[in-house]
Amino acid sequence: MHAITHTETWTGARGKRRRSFRQPRDHVPVRLRAGGSAAIRPLHSGEEAPLLAVFDQMSSTSRANRYLVGLPRLTRSMIDALVRVDGQDHVAWLGSVDDRPAGIARYVRVGPATAEVALEVADADHGRGLGTALLDAVTSLACLNGIRRIQAIVLPDNRPSQRLLTKIGVPLLPSGSALEGEGSLRLLDPPRVDRAAVVTLATRALDARDAPDGSWTTALDPPARSCRCPEAVSPRCSPPWQPGPDRS
Ligand SMILES: CC(C)(COP(=O)(O)OP(=O)(O)OC[C@H]1O[C@@H](n2cnc3c(N)ncnc32)[C@H](O)[C@@H]1OP(=O)(O)O)[C@@H](O)C(=O)NCCC(=O)NCCS
Repeated sequence: MHAITHTETWTGARGKRRRSFRQPRDHVPVRLRAGGSAAIRPLHSGEEAPLLAVFDQMSSTSRANRYLVGLPRLTRSMIDALVRVDGQDHVAWLGSVDDRPAGIARYVRVGPATAEVALEVADADHGRGLGTALLDAVTSLACLNGIRRIQAIVLPDNRPSQRLLTKIGVPLLPSGSALEGEGSLRLLDPPRVDRAAVVTLATRALDARDAPDGSWTTALDPPARSCRCPEAVSPRCSPPWQPGPDRS
């Protein structure tokens, strides 16, 4: 199959119909607070460069907030684990601003219907809505992939994360020197991303992963496989939700 879609357009004055061709989108555009925009897309398996680029743009405080300990650099085993995404049990989405990697959010399945969520945004981009948009993307996909319970762990001073996590249903309680919690996953309301576009791109990425040449653009309008439920756009991740295979 050829890797393009086509659309019909009108050429204006002469009213003549012209066929134009358009590449399928490899990202979902997101409008940021106070102007500007970001492009979000799935992180590919083994894709280390954006992970390291975002990490490099984080202060030591932000790194500690993300990894719960101060880290001058990510260790080899951490990098390997963080890029071992599979589109279903470990899903990570990258946000870029002007082609610069600026944030990553992920969920990792830790039980049949339970996942842990984590995210990080470059310090210079904090407060622009990128973290919220990335979290919306990954929690929407988590919901589609059968996740019903969501958990997280944060440091007590990390107010932005606490605000975000509370909104998706994680009740945070003191646990040792951190705050920890697990609750029923709720999708952000109102949505902060075009969830239909996120699902389409996630599905295409999964299909491309299985394509012989690994190309992203080989699979157009594929049947939804992991992402089966159009109710992904519903703000509540609860019945009448009918996801794919029940893993519980
Ligand atoms: C947590 C983090 C990912 C949020 O990313 P972000 O792009 O700044 O988030 P957003 O701009 O979408 O804002 C999310 C919420 O935090 C609030 N917020 C953002 N920056 C803030 C700041 N510096 N102080 C107080 N609140 C802040 C926002 O107002 C927003 O809340 P609201 O929607 O109720 O107004 C980012 O601060 C970060 O990378 N921190 C370091 C790593 C980390 O803490 N990871 C989470 C642990 S799992």
